[in-house]
Amino acid sequence: MRLLPRATGCLLVLLLATSPTEAQTNANQWPDEATCRELPPENEIVRGWCLAIDRDKGNCIACHTFNVTPWPKSLPVAGNIAPPLVAMEPRFPDIGQLRRQVADAPALNPRTTMPPYLRHELLTEAEIERILQFLLTL
Ligand code: HEC
Repeated sequence: MRLLPRATGCLLVLLLATSPTEAQTNANQWPDEATCRELPPENEIVRGWCLAIDRDKGNCIACHTFNVTPWPKSLPVAGNIAPPLVAMEPRFPDIGQLRRQVADAPALNPRTTMPPYLRHELLTEAEIERILQFLLTL
């Protein structure tokens, strides 16, 4: 029992160190997949990042890299079979276009390898919205 407060203190320090605040998202303190699962973030942008890197969810980094520096060391190197996701806001002034790309890429380009995330129920609409929030920070 005497250990409990100390353990709680450690957990708090760990939480503070690993769950990025708004400022930290800008400072590129992105959690890796294990941290996303163990300490699910509350910040919608960081939740979007977690969904994007999760191998059971978006797994976008199988194909795309994100304009994130430094790339978290414990993450696999991102794929390069698709364009790097950079400067999203200026390139996608219409968020609807970005939403369509993530929800159902083959509807825009039938020859694409990008999965139709919404139609195949790989991601929910709410999850896609979180990913969009993250993408717009790139
Ligand atoms: C299997 C590979 C693959 C995966 C996984 C994948 N994409 Fe793509 N994505 C592509 C390809 C290839 C393109 C290029 C456009 C095309 O094929 O029509 C693309 C294009 C895009 C574009 C438009 C890029 C631009 O600069 O115009 C966005 C945005 C995008 N993907 C977001 C995502 C997100 C977000 C995820 C994860 C939820 C994801 N992609 C997962 C293959 C993939």
